[in-house]
Amino acid sequence: MTAAATFNVGSNIAYSGASYRMSHPRRLEALAALSGMHPQPLPAARVLELGCASGRNLLPQAANYPDAEFVGVDFSGRQIAEGQAMIKALGIDNIRLHEARIEDVDGSWGVFDYILCHGVYSWVNPGVEDDILAICQRNLAAQGVAYVSYNVLPGWHVRNITRDLMRYHTDGIESATEKIVRARAILGFMGKNAPGNSAYKALLAEEVNSVQRSDDAYLNYEFLQNDNHPCYFHEFIERAASHGLQYLGDANTARLSIRAAPQEAQAALANLPLLKQQQYMDFLLNTSFRRTVLCHDHIRLERRRTGNLLDRFHIALSGRPQKKLRLDVTSKETVDIALGNNTISSNSPFAKAAIQHLIDVFPGSVMISDLHKAAIALLEGVGYPLSDEPATRLEDMAAVVMEVYLGGAIELSLHPPKVASTVSDLPAASPLARLQASTHGKVVSQLHETIVLDEFKRQVVSRLDGERDPDSLWLELARAIDRGEIEVDSNSMESLDDILEWCRERALLIE
Ligand SMILES: C[S@@+](CC[C@H](N)C(=O)[O-])C[C@H]1O[C@@H](n2cnc3c(N)ncnc32)[C@H](O)[C@@H]1O
Repeated sequence: MTAAATFNVGSNIAYSGASYRMSHPRRLEALAALSGMHPQPLPAARVLELGCASGRNLLPQAANYPDAEFVGVDFSGRQIAEGQAMIKALGIDNIRLHEARIEDVDGSWGVFDYILCHGVYSWVNPGVEDDILAICQRNLAAQGVAYVSYNVLPGWHVRNITRDLMRYHTDGIESATEKIVRARAILGFMGKNAPGNSAYKALLAEEVNSVQRSDDAYLNYEFLQNDNHPCYFHEFIERAASHGLQYLGDANTARLSIRAAPQEAQAALANLPLLKQQQYMDFLLNTSFRRTVLCHDHIRLERRRTGNLLDRFHIALSGRPQKKLRLDVTSKETVDIALGNNTISSNSPFAKAAIQHLIDVFPGSVMISDLHKAAIALLEGVGYPLSDEPATRLEDMAAVVMEVYLGGAIELSLHPPKVASTVSDLPAASPLARLQASTHGKVVSQLHETIVLDEFKRQVVSRLDGERDPDSLWLELARAIDRGEIEVDSNSMESLDDILEWCRERALLIE
């Protein structure tokens, strides 16, 4: 039996893959550069993805960095064929997807500046886990950066209750579809029937809800397959070390430091070595998944991430601000500013002015010197006396920006994505987003996120080729509606202006 046949035994539920913002080499490049490394600039890099499925993670990267080279490997012939068809339709030639086993990637594949492996490591047999780490060493350039995601303990102790339950309950059932239906049913039963007000019931309810929200392909892959070997972070790091690799950081910036822990815990952890801090953080936060970034063990890393490193970086908010958000930059009241999944709290008019500028340019980015000038100009514009602010030098701002980056609310990059900061007279979406929108409603943004479009937005995005102005686009859409080619509920139809602005805010428009 081939390895391909042993994966998803008896299953026809395909895991189609997606684009993962945290795995983007842009983020790895920034982290490496902040840590004193000299990573290959992404526009001229070689990138390898292990277990690339149909290339949904790799293809948008290739489309955006045409002079870089991308190689994907996966043993699923169907997925590779699907990816190759997309590459052909897109007409790009800097990406190759190979139908091959990870175990067969050897030195002849060459050296890569970035190696990505998302959603594979814990879900293969331990021999292949070692192969993945061996590739991350052997095929990684001297200043290269590798990303491996995996399931961790202690979070998976709890998750394993539902996994064990579903596997026990569906043991012996051949059909994957039937298995999933039965697995969901037993989950529902357990969620309802765990006894009284027990802590166990609460624990189970949370887990059951989260599994029930996931789609069938994920449930099948994560909870019903034979291989799923969570490990402790320290075990992963020890195993990586046995392959000549060291911990560079976490692709989830908010997990680079101990800031995610409560204040009291931070004080207790502060003097521990970094790796111990990270392990105790997993115990504290009940972590179940990690995205670890590795590099060769001979590199001396700079772990102090101070504001003076920021000169070369483009700065952007990580999360989308509320529509047309305006802060009262003259107020010294503490405000919590919600930015996607992050919140920044500040009482400083100067900091608020800087955040306001980042909101105004979102999803675009600015250099620190321009952010500094913009914040001062904003405060001067509203007549706020700068002398009232204790720290308005560029260095003060850089220190704050670094703090906010380490909290996860700011994205730093050396080669930021190309995004439109305004809706132009001839709005354009990327060729990939247009191609995706021409067949289905899930498109990838310039921030490497999946955006779900309703039918009308899908029709709009598929036509954003930079050659139609909004009036002719509207006319074309109206005619298609009249002819019955587009089915929309005219009562709930948004204006084209609103849709274009919606697309811009989600980084679907390019300059
Ligand atoms: C859950 S999917 C993850 C896909 C993608 N990386 C993502 O996260 O969306 C795991 C992928 O790894 C591939 N895979 C698993 N074991 C493999 C092996 N030994 N060699 C090559 N591909 C493998 C599977 O075919 C599948 O496409």
